[in-house]
Amino acid sequence: MAGWNPFKRKSPAKAARPDATTSAVVKPLIREAHRRGAELGGLPRFNTTASDQVSSRGGDRFSLVRAKLRHAFTPSQPVADRRLFAGRDEVLKTIIRSIEDQRLHVVLYGERGIGKTSLMHVLTQAATEARYIVVYTSCGANSTFDETFRAAAEQIPLLFHSGFSPTATETEKGSTLADLLPSEPLTPRKFGDLCAKLTGTRVLIILDEFDRAESGSFRRDVAELIKNLSDRLGRVQLVLAGVAADLTELVEHIPSIRRNIFALRVPKMSETEVLQIVANGEREADLKFDTQAAAFVVEVARGSPYIANLICHHAGHAALDQGRSTVLPSDVATAADRAILEFQGRIPTPAQIQVRRLFDQGRQDALAMTARGALASDGVFGAPEIEATNGVIGKKAQDALDVLLGERLLREVPAEGPILRYAFVEEGLPTLIWMMWAQRNLNQPTTRAATAS
Ligand SMILES: Nc1ncnc2c1ncn2[C@@H]1O[C@H](COP(=O)(O)OP(=O)(O)O)[C@@H](O)[C@H]1O
Ligand SMILES: [Mg+2]
Repeated sequence: MAGWNPFKRKSPAKAARPDATTSAVVKPLIREAHRRGAELGGLPRFNTTASDQVSSRGGDRFSLVRAKLRHAFTPSQPVADRRLFAGRDEVLKTIIRSIEDQRLHVVLYGERGIGKTSLMHVLTQAATEARYIVVYTSCGANSTFDETFRAAAEQIPLLFHSGFSPTATETEKGSTLADLLPSEPLTPRKFGDLCAKLTGTRVLIILDEFDRAESGSFRRDVAELIKNLSDRLGRVQLVLAGVAADLTELVEHIPSIRRNIFALRVPKMSETEVLQIVANGEREADLKFDTQAAAFVVEVARGSPYIANLICHHAGHAALDQGRSTVLPSDVATAADRAILEFQGRIPTPAQIQVRRLFDQGRQDALAMTARGALASDGVFGAPEIEATNGVIGKKAQDALDVLLGERLLREVPAEGPILRYAFVEEGLPTLIWMMWAQRNLNQPTTRAATAS
């Protein structure tokens, strides 16, 4: 092969003379390539343009409904549009009361997908209507106090600083509190001092995904700021949202701020709230869910707005794929199939194989009962949760636990008190198991009645 240079272009004459064997293999491929090239509709296309116009080329008679469906159910995004925000009246009312009447700082916690960010969006709108200045920040692994609160200060006009008159040149220039900050790293004390000078407005600083911030000093500084602001009856209030454990930790580290904080766990949605998600989507997308299909959505979602959106989204598309604008129970079963495919990518294969084997060995009752217990209690549960969510008594719950413990699908979680607590070894397993149960049991009234009670 001396002198062979892979980068040297072949002469056109050589390239056009393939040898006999390759020609037999390649020719049909080239023909196919030409056919595809000639056929405009050959490759999958986007149905909607970037400006959300339905493409005139291709697509079926449901293109428009499909486009609306994408907006109606948004499993991968928080809700920002009030028309699509379902339920949560009580939660929102409680948060607003504690901000407005008690002037507390708020800690909102709950599992992933329970609707914290969506609540923060709607809270932002409500507070903005009441002329609050609302600063929304989504924390990241590398969040620092300096960066986060400098950015917040940039959104507070100097106009509201008691030391500057509204006609001062600085305020007229549109300066902000950030212009008063020193160049060295910002401290809770410095930021608190500045907040104490605000007048004529109120500020809400929302720190979403607070648990994602990895720096211990960031968390300590935020706690320190809460203390500082509370001591001075400031006009600035913080709202922290995130996944449970880490937020309670924040409060526990500095016991003295406990009384300045209102902590609320976002509960599962009620059946009515889940049905409202369905109804909002029906209205937005011009789709109809048949009554049984809507009941299945409630059953599968088990109070999770994320699962409700995911299932409605897939079920809507499944119906349209069948040329219907009415969603039937079978579409919800198809939706469970599609959801399972999505979840599979997030869970290690050995655990999945184990779960499938248990289903095949007829242990689906043990799996379903335990999954329901886990889903009802943010993942950490014991026999009492299994009993309550499945309407069974002691021994049955323990039998179910024993099956899964024997398979090492559960681990024990340290807890106070005599009752043993467990969690699935993979966070996503209860949802996957629950979807698999739904896929096997929805649409089959007899099995359903036997296991669902
Ligand atoms: N009140 C609600 N009404 C309708 N859908 C909701 C509501 N709350 C959450 N969702 C949906 O649930 C999913 C998760 O919501 P999100 O606010 O991102 O949860 P979290 O921040 O707790 O992880 C998203 O698909 C969102 O569209
Ligand atoms: Mg969120």
